[in-house]
Amino acid sequence: MDWKHGYFAESGYTYGYYPETMPMRLRWAALIQGHTAPPSKFRYLDAGCGQGLNLILAAAAHPDSEFVGIDFLPEHIAHGKALAETCGLKNVTFIEGDFLELAEDPTLHGSFDYAVCHGISTWIAPEVKTALFTLIGRALRPGGVFYNSYNTFPGWLGTVPFQHLVLLEQRGKTGEKALDAARESFKALGECAPGMFNALPALESRIKVLEQQDRAYLVQEYNNHYWQPVFVSKMIDDLKYAKLTYLGTATLPEAYDNLFSKEVLQLLNKQGDPVVREQLRDYATNQSFRRDLYAKGRLSAWPGKLAELLGDFSISLNPAQSRPENDQPYVVHSGTGETRGDRKFYDSLMDRIAKDSDGVKVADLIRLRKNPNEAPSVLQAVSILLHGGWITPSSNLSDAMTTAGTSINRHLAAAVCAGAPYRYLSVPQLGGALPMRDTDWMMLDCRFRGIDPKNWLPEVVKILKRLNRGLMKGGEPVADESVRDEVLRESIEEFSKSRLPALSRAGAI
Ligand SMILES: C[S@@+](CC[C@H](N)C(=O)[O-])C[C@H]1O[C@@H](n2cnc3c(N)ncnc32)[C@H](O)[C@@H]1O
Repeated sequence: MDWKHGYFAESGYTYGYYPETMPMRLRWAALIQGHTAPPSKFRYLDAGCGQGLNLILAAAAHPDSEFVGIDFLPEHIAHGKALAETCGLKNVTFIEGDFLELAEDPTLHGSFDYAVCHGISTWIAPEVKTALFTLIGRALRPGGVFYNSYNTFPGWLGTVPFQHLVLLEQRGKTGEKALDAARESFKALGECAPGMFNALPALESRIKVLEQQDRAYLVQEYNNHYWQPVFVSKMIDDLKYAKLTYLGTATLPEAYDNLFSKEVLQLLNKQGDPVVREQLRDYATNQSFRRDLYAKGRLSAWPGKLAELLGDFSISLNPAQSRPENDQPYVVHSGTGETRGDRKFYDSLMDRIAKDSDGVKVADLIRLRKNPNEAPSVLQAVSILLHGGWITPSSNLSDAMTTAGTSINRHLAAAVCAGAPYRYLSVPQLGGALPMRDTDWMMLDCRFRGIDPKNWLPEVVKILKRLNRGLMKGGEPVADESVRDEVLRESIEEFSKSRLPALSRAGAI
């Protein structure tokens, strides 16, 4: 076998951002499980960091901490390194390394308080997976937190025949061609021989959605020789050898049993073994993707201290996301299905958070409730609002954070205007990043180039033309130039008058 050990590495991965992997989100997810992890001056490892953008966005928000990204694909490391250097980030290091080799000397790059592995462990060969977990287990400091996201059964059961055909097609074809050939065969089978589709109802929607998904994601999802979703119970048992203990989920709504129906709850409560119980939860939700948290040794705070730490956690409104329209409830989706947050209760929290752009402590939200027994409902609401993106963690903004955020964003904006596929803006005070549309980047680039907002419209039109891109309105492409200008005028007004000042206060500009 060559250096890839069966991993599909013919092309680079996407330039993704995953809020659940950001240090303060990890800290909150661990805290609600009763485990404490450091808020500052920590070391953070991203094992299998891909293009490294996620790590860079995390590093910008925590200049007092150290970030290390490891990946065996040279093009990923080249990208991460170049981006970090261009942006002048001093607290992030990218290392070209293979889990198999690193497991032989796990502390070669030091020890860590946080380790994340996003989308890796169920796509690699068994011996590589063992090496990866050995590396994490040894490199984590006692009390350290490990985030492991992966494909799981039962949710992926229906897709097994499709992935198998992709691999068979790969005998004679390259990655994307193999994927397309398997998809064509499955589309035809769905029409002329639907027996398998009837037996595996999830298959049809998985095949349908392929057309809208990013191809860089698809080939790394399906073309891997060792694509192997696992049951949560197996993952929990497998990690024990590496001294890693299951804490709970980082997909925040899934942390709450009370979101299950009464009947499911009754079934769960009959189960005394926590691992079997966790497995039953996944059966109840047909779980397909988990974001699990483990600890290398639980660091439980005494109840009084835990309440203090939770109360001390600071949050802010997300300036890029407005409240649900027309008095609708706050709706989020997760493995637990659809969760509806009560409008009046959630609005009262949002109103309080809106009052202070420097961040509001969870304790202040708890104090809003007359009855102290309502503290758990407030903690749960904070988790749901974080998951839904209406609020974000918040920290005291330092000059170093603003310098890092501004420098990254200046570079990302210029790169997007030159055709780069970046989609996330560094917002250090909010502990990570926020999504950006193409035209947002173009306006930001104008701002960085010192162009007066009055002259942004022709400048944005020029960039759109150069990149051969158009605008959308109401889900339709805009053909008419006067409509295009009207759409842009509105965006410029909103971006320059409300979004930019908020982003600037949060260290993005
Ligand atoms: C699906 S990608 C996820 C990348 C990144 N975590 C993200 O979500 O954007 C899996 C990553 O694992 C890396 N990888 C696979 N096998 C590896 C190995 N043996 N050693 C180091 N990195 C490996 C790949 O190069 C790829 O970047």
